[in-house]
Amino acid sequence: MTPIKNVAVFGASGNFGVPITAALQQAGFTITIITRAESTSTFPPGLRVLTVDYTSLEALTTALTGQDAVVMALSPAAAFGSTNVQNTIIDAVEAAGTVQRVIVNDFGWGPDIRSLPEFDAVRQVRKVHWDYAKMRSEGSGRFTWTGISCGNPIDWALQKFPILGFTLATSTVTIYDHGTEYFTGTTLEGIGQSVVGVLHHPDETANRFVKTLSIKTNQTELLQAFESATKTHESGQDGNRWTVEHSTVQTLLERGRLMLSKGNGQWRVNLLVAQMFEEGQARCVLAPSWEQSDSSLLGVRSEPVEEVVAKALGLQNAPLMGVI
Ligand SMILES: NC(=O)c1ccc[n+]([C@@H]2O[C@H](COP(=O)([O-])OP(=O)(O)OC[C@H]3O[C@@H](n4cnc5c(N)ncnc54)[C@H](OP(=O)(O)O)[C@@H]3O)[C@@H](O)[C@H]2O)c1
Repeated sequence: MTPIKNVAVFGASGNFGVPITAALQQAGFTITIITRAESTSTFPPGLRVLTVDYTSLEALTTALTGQDAVVMALSPAAAFGSTNVQNTIIDAVEAAGTVQRVIVNDFGWGPDIRSLPEFDAVRQVRKVHWDYAKMRSEGSGRFTWTGISCGNPIDWALQKFPILGFTLATSTVTIYDHGTEYFTGTTLEGIGQSVVGVLHHPDETANRFVKTLSIKTNQTELLQAFESATKTHESGQDGNRWTVEHSTVQTLLERGRLMLSKGNGQWRVNLLVAQMFEEGQARCVLAPSWEQSDSSLLGVRSEPVEEVVAKALGLQNAPLMGVI
């Protein structure tokens, strides 16, 4: 296998596409961003951008010819939706003939998560697309694939989803049950690095899902770190403790299932959080420890809880976010 140099990125403007593209740029890869005609996204200056019709195998094949690797970080609706974008990209990879490695759309929990039964249909759809990449890879022998499972995208998720318990704007926390259930997460920095790591280690990462984590933690540890960070940041004011409220995983389960029965799309986030915090289940522990994950191989750092909450609070930017 020749070293990977030219990398095409789909979804470069997305939640994870931005830090992934920044990490690839910082690592010195030659990047081509692939986007669609309807996109209103903006991209970092200096990077090659191709607008391509995702329904055209011919156009995609032309765009991917000369690329050594393809990274898919498309929105789930695009990658796994009815237009089957991911499968068409896989067909184009095979037809182009130069692409050695495809990183398929995951950046989630991979194929092995013991999720709640309500997620079976979603998992099945993702699996069908992953299986397609595997089947075409094995059938043609022209390219290999990797899936990157990063678990909870923790610094981003803590900012974006107060339902995880932490309302940063009001320093209020909702602890579910005892707040001691562990889960694993990868920061945006780690997610970007994981892609670089796969492309630097193609042999060790071929034809499998790699599992990354920056941290294994729980709500109690996060709360302590948030209290400490906000106290330090506000010049050591006394009494800057967070307001603690309590709820239960059972409440999340009941609310999520009721929403599902009424067609309210918010069911997903309620049940996702429920499965993270359901005590004694370890459903959202991708690997028992950093050492037992693929993080070391890929160069994904183990980050202390203080650093993760500083990133969530915006006190410390993810270093790679500043690149683009
Ligand atoms: N672990 C987790 O908890 C977690 C959370 C969120 C996401 N994820 C996973 O991470 C991956 C990327 O998700 P994301 O949140 O980063 O995606 P996103 O930000 O929603 O979208 C990424 C990009 O997809 C492209 N796109 C959007 N709609 C499209 C359409 N209809 N057709 C074609 N392209 C479209 C856009 O790029 P252009 O405008 O350039 O075309 C967009 O910037 C997915 O596999 C998702 O499941 C995991």
